Amino acid sequence: MVLLGETFPNFTASTTEGTIKFHEWLGDSWGVLFSHPNDFTPVCTTELARVVQLMPEFKRLGIKVIAMSCNSIESHINWIEDIKSYAETSVEQFPYPIIEDESRTLSTSLGMLDPNELDSNGLPLSARAVFIVDPNKKMRLSILYPATTGRNFDEIVRVIESLQLTDKYSVATPVDWKIGEDVMVQPSVPNETAKKLYGEKLKILNLPSTKSYLRIVPQPMDSLQN
Ligand code: BEZ
Repeated sequence: MVLLGETFPNFTASTTEGTIKFHEWLGDSWGVLFSHPNDFTPVCTTELARVVQLMPEFKRLGIKVIAMSCNSIESHINWIEDIKSYAETSVEQFPYPIIEDESRTLSTSLGMLDPNELDSNGLPLSARAVFIVDPNKKMRLSILYPATTGRNFDEIVRVIESLQLTDKYSVATPVDWKIGEDVMVQPSVPNETAKKLYGEKLKILNLPSTKSYLRIVPQPMDSLQN
């Protein structure tokens, strides 16, 4: 099981695009690795189709995407036609690889198995896990959904936009933030520094505690980099 901030394992896996070593496959990109319970199942089909539709967004942000389930490569390849059809895409080439993990080796080591979801042989299936890995191969986000709840991949894009912004500037993104909206100055930045950096654009909210920690600024542009 990998924890936030730890180096993601450089695992070797068979995929629909051949054998990969994860770090080499990732190169200098951000990565999203997501697992799903089973091929040819309804919720999973909608999820993988949504990721196909979001590929322009992932490319814009320099993100590589890879899916995984406990089914075989042959099964994945047959299922891809259904996913493409559901996504209503005209692309010939499926735009991201799908890892096979029939042995459950990878799912076990990454803590992706759901003991309550079993295949026809009674073996546990992978849950709906999502891992975001940065270009330094560090794990930056980990979420685990139950099989019966499809994920929101717009949220994954939103988190990566936030991570890329907050890696560059000493800001944090508030609840329901979307790209272009105001952000918060990180608590570690003293008020004097914040005033120097943002001048009149810095808005410090008055709170009953009288503590001046809720500091709002416009989303930084390159000229404000610190
Ligand atoms: C689905 O993808 O639809 C699904 C898979 C496993 C359990 C429940 C739903």
